[in-house]
Amino acid sequence: MPPLRAAIAGTGFIGAVHARSARLAGAQLVGVAASSVETSRRAADALGAERAFSSAEELVVSPDVDVVHICTPNHLHLPLALAALAAGKHVICEKPLALDVEGALELVDAADMAELQAAVPFVYRYYPTVREARERVRGGQTGALRLLHGSYLQDWLLRPDDDNWRVDAQLGGASRAFADIGSHWCDLAEFVSGHRIVRLSARSLTAMPERIGKVGRKAFAPGEGVGEARSVTTEDAALVQFETDGGALGSAVISQISAGRKNRLWLELDGADEALAFDQEQPEELWCGRREAVTMLRRDPTTLTPAAARLAFLPGGHPQGYADCFDAFVADVYGCVRGGAEVDGLPTFADGLRAALITDAVLDSAREQRWVDVGTAPRELAVDAEAVTR
Ligand SMILES: NC(=O)c1ccc[n+]([C@@H]2O[C@H](COP(=O)([O-])OP(=O)(O)OC[C@H]3O[C@@H](n4cnc5c(N)ncnc54)[C@H](O)[C@@H]3O)[C@@H](O)[C@H]2O)c1
Repeated sequence: MPPLRAAIAGTGFIGAVHARSARLAGAQLVGVAASSVETSRRAADALGAERAFSSAEELVVSPDVDVVHICTPNHLHLPLALAALAAGKHVICEKPLALDVEGALELVDAADMAELQAAVPFVYRYYPTVREARERVRGGQTGALRLLHGSYLQDWLLRPDDDNWRVDAQLGGASRAFADIGSHWCDLAEFVSGHRIVRLSARSLTAMPERIGKVGRKAFAPGEGVGEARSVTTEDAALVQFETDGGALGSAVISQISAGRKNRLWLELDGADEALAFDQEQPEELWCGRREAVTMLRRDPTTLTPAAARLAFLPGGHPQGYADCFDAFVADVYGCVRGGAEVDGLPTFADGLRAALITDAVLDSAREQRWVDVGTAPRELAVDAEAVTR
C-alpha cells in the first residue's frame, strides 16, 4: 500500500509533534502551512516536509493530501476542518475543536455526513497507566466511584508580560485556561471513570486583567517585559465542582498561573475499594491506594492488562512519555483511515463536542454564579445524544 499523504496546518509547538508522529506512523509528509509563506518554508525545511503550501486554506483542499492535521490557533479550527472534510480529507483537529458548541456541533455533523475519520488529540488517554486505571475501574477492582478530583496546573502565563495568542478571546475563544487544559482534564476524568459530568458549578479568575501584549509569542516562552498593554477577558484559572451521571462528586483546579507547575495534570478516582491516582509528569506509575497497603503500579508490558500493554512498546524501566502518546494516537487514526477495525478509546470529534459542552457550562456557571446542567444549558441545544455518547 502506498503511504498515507499527510499535511499539517500550523507548525508551532504541537504541529512539530504531529509531524514526528505522522512520519513514525509511516505517512508521507506532503507539506505544511504556517502563518506566512516565509514561516511555512522554514517549517517545511525544519520538519522535512516536501513543500510549503502558500496558505492553510490551500493545504486543506489539496488533491494530493489524504489526512489533514489542524494545529493552528483555535479560531481557525472550524473553517479549516470544515473545508478539509468538504474536500474529502480525513482530519485530525486540535482541541478545542471550535470556539463554541455550535461550531463543534457543525463539525461533528460534517464528519458524520462525510463518513471520514475525524479525531481530536486528547492524547493523555494514550498513557499505558491511564488505560490500566480505566481497566481497573471497568473490571470492578476499584469499586463504585465516589469522588473524581484533581488539577491541571501550568505556570507559563504567570506574569503580566507572559503572552500568547491563547490570551486573546478572538483567537483562542472566550475560555482560555479551561478550554485549553481543563478540557484535557475532563476528557481524561470521563474516559477513565466512564462517568459523565452532568452538572457543575464553576468560578473563574482573571488574575491579570491586563497583560503586556505580544500575541506572536510562542507558548511556554518566557515574557520579555516589553510590549503593549492590553486588556484580557479570558481566565487564568478556573475551579469546577461537579456531579456525574454515575453518582460521583468531583472537583478540579485548572490554572496557567501556578508557579513551578509546568504541565501537572493530576487525576484521582476514589472508589469503594481503592483509589487510583495518575500524574502526567510521572506517567510511568499509577498510584493505587487500598486501606491495607499502597501499591505503585509500574508501566511494564509484562504485567499490564492487554488494553494498557498495547501502548507499552518499551520494556519496563525504559520511560515512555508525552510524544509517545501522540505517536500511538496518530497511528490509531491512520489505522482507521486505512480501514482497520475501530479502536477502543480513540478520541473523535464527538469528544471535542463533549469538551465544548462542558466549557460552555463552565463559562455560564462562572458568569452567572450558579449550578448549570452540562449539555442542555443555556440554549436547549438540539444535540444528537448519540453523537456525544461514547
Ligand atoms: N493536544 C494537545 O496536547 C495540545 C498541546 C498543545 C497545543 N494544542 C493545540 O494545538 C493548537 C496549536 O497550539 P500550539 O501550542 O502549537 O501553538 P503555536 O503558537 O506554537 O503554533 C501555532 C502555529 O499556527 C500557525 N498559524 C498561525 N496563523 C496561521 C494561519 N492563518 N494559517 C496557518 N498557520 C497559522 C503559526 O505560524 C504557528 O506555526 C491549539 O489549538 C492548541 O490548543 C494541543
